[in-house]
Parts: sequence; C-alpha cells; structure tokens
Amino acid sequence: MLISFEGIEGSGKSTQIKLLSEKFEKKGLKVICVREPGGTLIGEKIRDLFLEETDEIFNPLTEVLLLYSSRKQLDEQIIRPNLAEGNIVIADRFYHATIAYQCYGKGVEVGFVEYIHEKLNISKPNLSVLIDIDPQLSRQRISQRDPDRMEKESLEFFSRVQEGYKRLEENNKDFVSIDGKKTIEKISEEIEILIAKKLNV
Ligand code: TMP
Repeated sequence: MLISFEGIEGSGKSTQIKLLSEKFEKKGLKVICVREPGGTLIGEKIRDLFLEETDEIFNPLTEVLLLYSSRKQLDEQIIRPNLAEGNIVIADRFYHATIAYQCYGKGVEVGFVEYIHEKLNISKPNLSVLIDIDPQLSRQRISQRDPDRMEKESLEFFSRVQEGYKRLEENNKDFVSIDGKKTIEKISEEIEILIAKKLNV
C-alpha cells in the first residue's frame, strides 16, 4: 500500500509521517518512508540540483522532467519492490506535488504530467493526505530556515499551489485533507482514523 503526504512548506508532513510509521510498526507492519524528489542515490543528486539556487531561469518543464527522473528511479528501485512484498510505503510528497507546484504554481499542463506519469508506468498512491495550512502560516513557520530555491518563491506562488491541492481534493476521492492548524497529536489521531476507514489498516 502506498500512502503519500502532501502540503506546502511548513505543513508538518514529516512529523506526521514519523508518527504514522511508528503506529504502523507497533502493529507489526513493515513501513518504508521515502521522500521526493530523492529517496535513491540518483534521486538525491537530482534533489540537490532541483533545490539549489541558480542564476539561470529554471524552466518549469525542466523541473517536471527532473522530478520524473527521480520518481521513475524511486518507483522502480524502492516503491514497487516493497509494494510487491506487501510492505507499506509512505511518501513525503509524490506526483500530486508536481500537479500542485509545477502545474498550478508554474503553468505546466496537468494533462502533460498525467500523460508522462501513465507512460512511465509509475505507481499511484492508494491514499494521499494533504496537511492543509494557508500560505501565510507556511511563511511564518519556515521563516527561521535558510530557504532553498523553492522556498524563495512568492506568497502568490504558494497560494496557487494551495489552490491546486484544493482542486485535487475536490476531484479525487483518494485525496483527502486534514486541517494543519490543529495540534500535532490531534492531526495524528485524525490521520489514523482516516487511514483505518479508507484503507482498513
Ligand atoms: P520538501 O523539502 O518538502 O521535501 O520539498 C521539496 C521541494 O520540492 C518543495 O518545495 C516542493 C518541491 N516539489 C515540487 O515542486 N514538485 C514535486 O513534484 C515535488 C515532489 C516537490
């Protein structure tokens, strides 16, 4: 089973992924956590390239192709073999991030991303959980960090990304959102209930 977590920067995905994987492990289930871009040696190199500041204009389609190079490698090397063994894979972002960031945020056609996803024969999540916070709160939460290339994007950009995530939720029954303003414990509890209900685990 593949579960992905989505949300704009500072949403608290990583904390929730850690808590969820501990809950699964307590039930005796084997859990593999991966992040995107990244998760393999090749993918992590792509991640560095993707997040590093550059003086050149990063073409949004170059971004998509880099993200898909990393995603293909991750799917073949880690996701598929683990799913085949019956393990749970939790992804810190997956292809919905490309739809939200590169399509809604930067104007790439949604159909193009869907097409390459299909043609590359990459796994699809059984469930995607959006930790929903608004762009202002995101700004506030990440203000202490040394920002990477993506974190330097404008508030308007993150509003478009957020809008993209909301569209995905409206149009997809396997894409659900949780209010990210709640406490860590409450969010974790809601995720557990949601996963039990949707996926029976
Ligand atoms: P992270 O630090 O939360 O792992 O995120 C990496 C950055 O990459 C984050 O700013 C979102 C961005 N990203 C995209 O723009 N498109 C994608 O498809 C993915 C997976 C990440």
